[in-house]
Amino acid sequence: MPAKVCFVTGSGRRIGASIIQKFAEEGYAVLIHVSTSREAGELLKSKLVEKGCKADLLQGDLSDEEQTNQLISMVSNHPFVQQRGGLDVLVHNASVYSQIPVDELSLETMRFLNRLHVEAPLQLSQGLQTSLSDVNGSIIALTDTSAGKAWKQLSHYTSSKAGLRQLMLNLAGEYAPNIRVNCVAPGAILSADWEHEHFSKIVQSIPLQRSGDPSDVAGAVYFFAVSPYLTGQELFVDGGWSINPS
Ligand SMILES: NC(=O)c1ccc[n+]([C@@H]2O[C@H](COP(=O)([O-])OP(=O)(O)OC[C@H]3O[C@@H](n4cnc5c(N)ncnc54)[C@H](OP(=O)(O)O)[C@@H]3O)[C@@H](O)[C@H]2O)c1
Repeated sequence: MPAKVCFVTGSGRRIGASIIQKFAEEGYAVLIHVSTSREAGELLKSKLVEKGCKADLLQGDLSDEEQTNQLISMVSNHPFVQQRGGLDVLVHNASVYSQIPVDELSLETMRFLNRLHVEAPLQLSQGLQTSLSDVNGSIIALTDTSAGKAWKQLSHYTSSKAGLRQLMLNLAGEYAPNIRVNCVAPGAILSADWEHEHFSKIVQSIPLQRSGDPSDVAGAVYFFAVSPYLTGQELFVDGGWSINPS
């Protein structure tokens, strides 16, 4: 029986790499995707192959519509997917996170974030729908815990993640019953380079008193992949940060 297949966007490093590792450990053939982190992606692939896992690396810039189409074709025609007869798991993980005061937020930046967080996931989901449907696969998107709150200097990031969340909810309805669609919403997991001090303050207010580990997020993504009666859900992986009144 050919191995099930998992494709994760933006998975050469950080949380994406951890999701790839989790699925590889669970016996899936994994398709790592990078945009600029080619070296990290190659390293991850060789580590997994050395351990006896089936892994391959694909590259493409998801802000580019044509490159995204090429990526869809690379995934659909990949030997792992062909042997299996379809794609079991598509994870929309690729992202860019930065702080910009709303007065300085350009339409160009806003378009880029909407492209990366909303348009590219739509294009990939549409392009891979048949492959996913053929094996009753599932889509899981990485959102975040920002919904319903006013975050300073994050309008571009949080509103595009809100678009992603709603798009996934709609796809859960449109693609049922053949494909399940869910979201995992991480809290404070890995700090960006520019926010170490702020991140430490956040961690002090988390009920479980630690930042999350990428493997905490990977475990939740895997949970959705193997839970056949779950669709249209968003699971917060945030140590209770979102329930804290302070
Ligand atoms: N880190 C956290 O604590 C946290 C909290 C809440 C939500 N999340 C969400 O969880 C997910 C993973 O978080 P993370 O911090 O590990 O993400 P990240 O490091 O900010 O980004 C993940 C990957 O996205 C890829 N990417 C960026 N622009 C791209 C483009 N134009 N085309 C294709 N890929 C592109 C990058 O690939 P290359 O390196 O190959 O260029 C990058 O490695 C994200 O969706 C994030 O929004 C994370």
